Amino acid sequence: MRRMAILCSGGDVSGMNAALKRFVEYALMRRIEPFFVYDGYEGLIDGRIVKAGYEDVARILTLGGTNIGSARSKRFMEASYRAQAARQLQKRGIEGIVVLGGEGSFKGMQLLHQEHAVAVAGIPSTIDNDIAGTEYCLGVDTALNTVKCQIDAVRDTAASFRRAFVIETMGRECGYLALVSALTSGAEMCLIPELPYDLQAYEARFKRQLQEGRRYFIAVVAEALKKTDEIAAWFASRIGVESRTVVLGHTQRGGNPTVYDRITAFRFVTRAVDELLRNRSGVVCLEGSALTYKKVEDVAFKPYRISEELLALWE
Ligand code: F6P
Repeated sequence: MRRMAILCSGGDVSGMNAALKRFVEYALMRRIEPFFVYDGYEGLIDGRIVKAGYEDVARILTLGGTNIGSARSKRFMEASYRAQAARQLQKRGIEGIVVLGGEGSFKGMQLLHQEHAVAVAGIPSTIDNDIAGTEYCLGVDTALNTVKCQIDAVRDTAASFRRAFVIETMGRECGYLALVSALTSGAEMCLIPELPYDLQAYEARFKRQLQEGRRYFIAVVAEALKKTDEIAAWFASRIGVESRTVVLGHTQRGGNPTVYDRITAFRFVTRAVDELLRNRSGVVCLEGSALTYKKVEDVAFKPYRISEELLALWE
């Protein structure tokens, strides 16, 4: 294989730029010509594919987001557009492609591989940390650190005003981001789809704590539940504490990537390029501290579950 490309698909994460930097530098070291595909599968279909060099990745390591853009492509779900995308690669002599994205992106990547024999290597990249087969997705550590800073700041004002703050985290259908954030910021309440909860039990506990001198409450609620406003109203009506909501939203996706996300990006990309050079398609996963390389169907087509050990930390 002499030419390889990389693209970012779906929600961007901090660490994608570190991955792009490693991709270019490692490919050149292995005497492969690296190409960037701009704007995800949309750019692949339309041929926005450009040869990349050292100058393209200078000073990007510290930046959040992705310098080559990302997209959620509806067109790529259609076979005719995937054929067009494959032709764009073939006419440039590109035989392998690294895809940074989530489950949906990997499903598309797998179809490109099966229908057009393009070698593909996925790198799990989503703040939701909701991909089966890997314990870690690129960008999660930076997102968690952002949430931690925000909740620490909210705690200051919550204590000053004797208020309850209901903080909504992202995560799509997954409660991972909310759970780890609630645990690591000392929240009093954590509501996620994976854990049953009992509002009556919370009510009894919180009322007792108020009598014992508690001044404020922090509740972390996963966006999946769509209960942020309801819980804020519950604090006011049932607990008798003034409440506010904070929807962290897309702040969780940006920012200077942490050391962990930078080194993980380097590790993931190096493995992906090595596997493509052996003409092996799959997804790079992290299990414990070790990298593994799995079949796409074992990653993108199975439901993700938060580990029981982590869930038990809240119970
Ligand atoms: O999948 C990443 C994510 O940030 C989810 O946590 C969130 O639900 C969604 O993307 C938001 O999507 P968009 O950026 O299209 O608003």
